[in-house]
Amino acid sequence: MTDGLPKGPLRSHGRISVSARAVPCDLMEEPLFVKGAWRAKIITLFPDAFPGTLGFSLTGKALDMGLWVLNTIDLRPFGIGKHRNVDDTPAGGGAGMVLRADVVDAALRQAVVDKPKDRKRCPIVYLSPRGRPFDQAMAQEWAAAEGIILLCGRFEGVDQRVLDHWDIQEVSLGDFVLTGGEIAAQAMIDATVRLIPGVLGNYASTEEESFSGGLLEHPQYTRPAEWEGREIPSVLRSGNHGEIAKWRRAEAERLTRQRRPDLLGKRRDPAV
Ligand SMILES: C[S@@+](CC[C@H](N)C(=O)[O-])C[C@H]1O[C@@H](n2cnc3c(N)ncnc32)[C@H](O)[C@@H]1O
Repeated sequence: MTDGLPKGPLRSHGRISVSARAVPCDLMEEPLFVKGAWRAKIITLFPDAFPGTLGFSLTGKALDMGLWVLNTIDLRPFGIGKHRNVDDTPAGGGAGMVLRADVVDAALRQAVVDKPKDRKRCPIVYLSPRGRPFDQAMAQEWAAAEGIILLCGRFEGVDQRVLDHWDIQEVSLGDFVLTGGEIAAQAMIDATVRLIPGVLGNYASTEEESFSGGLLEHPQYTRPAEWEGREIPSVLRSGNHGEIAKWRRAEAERLTRQRRPDLLGKRRDPAV
């Protein structure tokens, strides 16, 4: 116990994790994690769900390199009584169970221990279908912060009092209901972490892709030049970079107008 709180197992992924080595440790080697690395803390009943897909490809490589850090905080040890109950029946009746305010509060208190109080520097977010829809602008905001604390709900959700007490922002992955917040957390972390400098091999690609300039991305092609009777548009093989840029811009606008006209009203680039 610390500060009267149960010490839930804080599991870490990436370079901060400790493992046995067959060779003696070089005392001059780099520290176990990169100072100031962006850090996600996830409060969840299912810590084994992490890092999940975040452990693969570019996000996984960046995690191994210490460019970002992932900690899970298991909600279960904060549960009440012999059975560590984390939930109870909904006040007023109805189906399902609700995560208890006191249990979630104890986990949050552990999560904020080494975090800045300024929510801009470290937002605290409850994944929730009732929340503000997640978007690229939010991913950019979060990537510019020092890290984030994400609370994954389960069952019917979380007792409202703890959300109000902590003034937690609710963020949704979309207009559908998932069984728990873990998949939403992974999707949002993925979108955020790839914006951290050094995570993608080619950072410029994030500036051109869908949503960054308020448009959907133009169509992409690669070899072979002809496939099943379909050719790559000749302009893309012309070597004329000015014409290629013009074509891509026109295609991006065409697709956005056709599929997401709502985005055109929100453009950040007023030049077009
Ligand atoms: C079954 S859901 C609870 C749904 C809740 N009773 C409602 O109707 O709004 C359980 C948990 O999954 C997560 N979840 C479900 N849908 C989500 C979404 N669209 N975006 C983010 N999290 C979601 C939340 O953490 C939520 O507490």
